[in-house]
Amino acid sequence: MNNNELISMLNRDLRDEHAAVVRYLIHSYLEGEDTSLGASLLSRAREEMWHMHWLGKIIARVGGEPDMSVAEYPHDPTNRATIFKSYVDYEKNLIPHYNEEADKVEDSHIERVLRREAWESNMHATKFQRILDKLSPEKAEGLPRRENELSPEFVDRLQEVVAQKYTQMIQHIRDSWVFQKEGMEAWQLMDFSMTQMKQLAHLAEDVAENGMSPKFELGKIEKSTSIGLALEKTVQKLKDSQNRHNQFTKDSEAQKHRGFMLNLDLTLKQEKYEQEEIQDWISKKN
Ligand SMILES: [Fe+2]
Ligand SMILES: [Fe+2]
Repeated sequence: MNNNELISMLNRDLRDEHAAVVRYLIHSYLEGEDTSLGASLLSRAREEMWHMHWLGKIIARVGGEPDMSVAEYPHDPTNRATIFKSYVDYEKNLIPHYNEEADKVEDSHIERVLRREAWESNMHATKFQRILDKLSPEKAEGLPRRENELSPEFVDRLQEVVAQKYTQMIQHIRDSWVFQKEGMEAWQLMDFSMTQMKQLAHLAEDVAENGMSPKFELGKIEKSTSIGLALEKTVQKLKDSQNRHNQFTKDSEAQKHRGFMLNLDLTLKQEKYEQEEIQDWISKKN
């Protein structure tokens, strides 16, 4: 297998792992993280994030551009039973898939990662099957649904910031992989992406708490090949995002939701922190 073939093979896997992260996260938020189903799905989503991370790091290390787009996650949305059955099938398919890929690669690290993706997919299939077996008839026939207390306009605006925060986080992850050879700065970008993940979770939970699927819609991902340029763009995007969040603080509907306002305040402080940090790195470079 030549390098280009390796990159496109791993990019396909990356898109699929990304799809699993998004699917399990959305489902977890809809159930509620404080329910046993929600907690279990969140735990799977975190493991899929590692899977994504190992693949993305390898792709960039061998000179590829990680494809940050998301594949489809095929599932039957009729009820919980059909949904979890779809998850079992999806994970089971990945076991031979990853093992066949592992057979084709020469690099021992890449091979080990692919084997691990296979046996962890096996574990996921087993865990989803256990959930399926234990669902009460009522749960099995139902769907996660909750009452909506927000106005449609407010929900639309929330969905917009969910999509923007998601894109920002994915951009940071992409940059941290692509610039991994730069060392510390790439490591810091990954650190920031973790804060953004938390911010995104707060926003997405607010949407899901009101019975809607958070819109994890990816915007444009910049494919900068120099870290200097990537950092300049990051600062600009952090400023845009601060402006959007500042507008929310003045919104009368937002002000009614104390939990939302607390998280918003925290997000604004964190965005300011990140922006100042990155500006410092830029000025030290010049
Ligand atoms: Fe996975
Ligand atoms: Fe999995």
